[in-house]
Amino acid sequence: MSLTLLNPLDMHLHLRDGEMLANIAKESAHTFCGALIMPNLVPPVSTKEEVIAYKQRIIAAIGDETFTPYMTLFFKPSYDKAFLTSIKDEITAIKLYPAGITTNSEGGVSGFDVEELRPALEAMSELGIPLCVHGETNGFVMDREAEFVNIYEKLAHAFPKLVIIMEHITTKESVAALDRFENLYATITVHHLLITLDDVAGGMLRPHLFCKPIAKRPEDKDALLDAVLSGHPKVMFGSDSAPHPKHAKESCGCAAGVFTAPLALQILAELFDKENAALEHLQAFISGNAQRIYKLNPPAKTVRLKKQSFHVPSDYKGVVPMYAGEEIAYTIEEVNS
Ligand code: NCD
Ligand code: ZN
Repeated sequence: MSLTLLNPLDMHLHLRDGEMLANIAKESAHTFCGALIMPNLVPPVSTKEEVIAYKQRIIAAIGDETFTPYMTLFFKPSYDKAFLTSIKDEITAIKLYPAGITTNSEGGVSGFDVEELRPALEAMSELGIPLCVHGETNGFVMDREAEFVNIYEKLAHAFPKLVIIMEHITTKESVAALDRFENLYATITVHHLLITLDDVAGGMLRPHLFCKPIAKRPEDKDALLDAVLSGHPKVMFGSDSAPHPKHAKESCGCAAGVFTAPLALQILAELFDKENAALEHLQAFISGNAQRIYKLNPPAKTVRLKKQSFHVPSDYKGVVPMYAGEEIAYTIEEVNS
């Protein structure tokens, strides 16, 4: 059995910088035709010059692969309309992080006072720049995302023309919020479709499955699966593939992030096959919805996968992937662009 995917897009990707960028960028650029690149470098990408320079470093790292890096800027409440107008053509979205909530997010937002955010968010709304949000409060870890739904609703209500993307959603509450506000959308990772907290910490601790937001309860995973497998038009694939060196994961202070970039399409093919789900829904999840929501016109790429066991390497240049050393059911047969 084989299946073909057209123009796969990863709408939430961490490519890092320097040696890590050089080591892992091709793992995405080979099978995806484009990705939304997260700005949480140290320091975060927050000026026009930094966006342009980072994009050039990414293009250098991917070599001759057909791949568009869709750039993002790290949100600051101080951005004004003149600045946003000047940077609009260089970026696809702006990413908002609550201060200190995840890797390299110290300069993010605290408090979520609508009036404080109004100038920047109104300007983004007028200029048609989507807002991507890491939606977690600093409450109890299992409740952080559900608690943040109030903030999503406040923002969606105050800025009804602003496209707001709830990034890497993990709860049934977030799935439900999608249908309450026209301007709320979401990305979903592959790991949150497959694991719960039990897989991370229910037996031996599995550091390579530890990420923010943490995987939740079975009913949350089921709500995500329902949305994706039934072809919900407001959800897009965003891997949140977040590489950290092996020593930073297998350590007493484990860094948050799951590395899935080289395996995401194969795992999704296996999942859709196992659930007997319509292939057209996979195509919409992996590309069509993102093209419509973000108004993208990505470069053409065709990826053929076949049902043949693939042995997942134990590491990719020092980064341990999800399912390291295990067999998965699908393999990439051919990529054409
Ligand atoms: C991401 C990272 O390592 O940059 N980590 C993660 O657990 N997902 C940041 C993020 O998206 O939260
Ligand atoms: Zn992320």
